Amino acid sequence: LFAGPIAFLKSAPELKFLPDQDVPEVAFAGRSNVGKSSLLNALTGRNGLARTSNTPGRTQELNFFDVGEPLVLRLVDMPGYGFAKAPKDLLRKWRYLVNDFLRGRAVLKRVLVLVDSRHGLKDVDRELMDMLDKAAVSYRLVLTKADKIKASELADVHRRTTEEARKHPAAHPDVIMTSSEKGMGIPELRAAVLESVTA
Ligand code: GTP
Ligand code: MG
Repeated sequence: LFAGPIAFLKSAPELKFLPDQDVPEVAFAGRSNVGKSSLLNALTGRNGLARTSNTPGRTQELNFFDVGEPLVLRLVDMPGYGFAKAPKDLLRKWRYLVNDFLRGRAVLKRVLVLVDSRHGLKDVDRELMDMLDKAAVSYRLVLTKADKIKASELADVHRRTTEEARKHPAAHPDVIMTSSEKGMGIPELRAAVLESVTA
């Protein structure tokens, strides 16, 4: 699937600009700078498809990418949350955009909730998880930047994160460990995305 055509469809700075709900969607969510855009690029094997940056707050709209010809899947790169340095109004705007999208999107099959391996789950992540539980939107936790910590630390954060995932009704019980930089966990992530659109 990811070997075929993949193309940027559109950017939605507000909900009224969303594309039609004509194909299953999988969204990338998580704190600012956690590696959402990078992981979308690694998943699709297309560097530079989604814009990445060292500076948190890079992605400011919902960005839609069409996968397959014929079209079978749409990936959604979202703004991050928990970015303290952005102006308050902007933060509020992103939060509404992301939350309203996640709660109200019938074609949304799965949300990938990205968590930096170095930091583990934070309260802002738990708030998102609780919101998704309540809305019965199925999601999966994905640890990112696994190349940045030692194997023993990674095993530890993976164990803790999995334990917590299992307490959440809408969360997948297994947590995927990834590194966009090293390509780690990308085959598992592809399988998880495929499973969520075909199931
Ligand atoms: P926002 O759009 O600002 O919310 O950020 P984002 O979550 O989309 O993060 P992005 O993909 O832009 O990556 C943020 C920074 O982390 C960039 O400098 C990336 O190069 C770096 N990065 C992302 N993934 C990895 C990874 O697996 N390993 C390492 N070492 N760095 C990574
Ligand atoms: Mg981004």
